[in-house]
Amino acid sequence: MSKRTIVAMPGDGIGKIVLDQAIRVLNAAGFEAEYVNGDIGWDFWCREGNPLPQRTLDLLEKHKIGLFGAITSKPKDAAFEELAPELKNRGLVYSSPIVGLRQHFDLDICIRPCNTYKGNPLNFIRRGANGNIEEPIVDVVIFRQNTEGLYGGVEWSHPKGVVYEALKTHPKFVENFGNVPAEEISVSTRIFTKKATERILRAAFNHANDFGYKSVTLCEKPNVIRETSGMMYKMAQEIQKKDFPDIELWNTNVDAQMMWLTKNPEDYGVLVAGNMFGDIISDGFAGLIGGLGFACSAQMGASGVAVFEPTHGSAPKYADYKVSIVNPIAMIESACMMLDYIDEKEIAARIRKAIATVIEEGKIRTYDMLKMSGKPDVVEKGAASTIQMTDVIIAKL
Ligand code: NAI
Ligand code: MG
Repeated sequence: MSKRTIVAMPGDGIGKIVLDQAIRVLNAAGFEAEYVNGDIGWDFWCREGNPLPQRTLDLLEKHKIGLFGAITSKPKDAAFEELAPELKNRGLVYSSPIVGLRQHFDLDICIRPCNTYKGNPLNFIRRGANGNIEEPIVDVVIFRQNTEGLYGGVEWSHPKGVVYEALKTHPKFVENFGNVPAEEISVSTRIFTKKATERILRAAFNHANDFGYKSVTLCEKPNVIRETSGMMYKMAQEIQKKDFPDIELWNTNVDAQMMWLTKNPEDYGVLVAGNMFGDIISDGFAGLIGGLGFACSAQMGASGVAVFEPTHGSAPKYADYKVSIVNPIAMIESACMMLDYIDEKEIAARIRKAIATVIEEGKIRTYDMLKMSGKPDVVEKGAASTIQMTDVIIAKL
């Protein structure tokens, strides 16, 4: 078979560190690929005024598969401050390149699995009915709509003109905000389209069907957010009834779900939600299985481009340590999701098994697994470095 080409986008901070480690593991596992470097992130904003250069988009368009580390984003003023002097008078405005990637390739489906690894000291535990300690097995996959809703970017502060006039046509606006001066109002819209809503719902049901989950839980708030959540719930009911009668559709409110996820996380399988609620519940579930060091994700869409990345950011304060201490597992797990996607499931399974063995043996643990605060001296105190953790995973392959 011809070698695959993967666009490796390290980004900033620890993104550069963990991506290198994931590629080491992929190589060691016998995955044959070439990696081309995709420029993305803060450096390119500062030097070129664009954190997502066209050449990176071209590479992804050509090769379709991206592995992404993490980027640094900073507020508007700081972004302007750090821009190269010769670019400062061009009216450039910083926007997050990862959001840009999602929009450019319409990566509307975000998948975030959260699985308990046996022996992970960060696993969630709770007290059972007899006062005993229980460690529920979490095996969920969150399907998050990735391009619309509250992150769609359609927002205003001090709405004016036709926008303000349009708001005033809504009786609830008049009733609740009609007396508030426009300059004291900010509005962020939550736009859902039928097409994208159907795509994320179907992706969730198909996954449940393919992997033997008995339920799909829609996690929104249809009783209050009647138009968007309400539309999503109605569509979920229709899809379930017509095409997935053997899979149960559960409907939970996002606030209640946040409570239930610590009470009975083992009851859930596939969850599906809009952009913001999907982001929230996936972080909530990630907390039960070890947090950011373990949370992986995939983003894909009809364009055929797919990007795999850990959920964590660039953790800038850890980036310059002489010996890196961050946990590479979230990035390596994201690489496994890539392997599944391109039908290299056997290699993915082997890597996951190696990770599971390392965690269960418990001899090598990064600082987060030892519940240490992430100071540079954690390695002296017995924590594994990023490279040591990767080495031991490779050794188990
Ligand atoms: P972060 O995820 O970078 O770090 C938060 C904390 O989580 C760290 O201080 C560290 O204690 C822990 N952590 C993160 N990754 C870890 C790992 N692999 N192993 C062990 N511990 C880990 O989030 P933060 O500090 O809010 O943001 C830092 C920068 O990253 C910001 O500029 C932010 O905009 C950006 N960011 C980028 C994302 C992306 O590229 N997809 C996502 C989230 C934040
Ligand atoms: Mg998040």
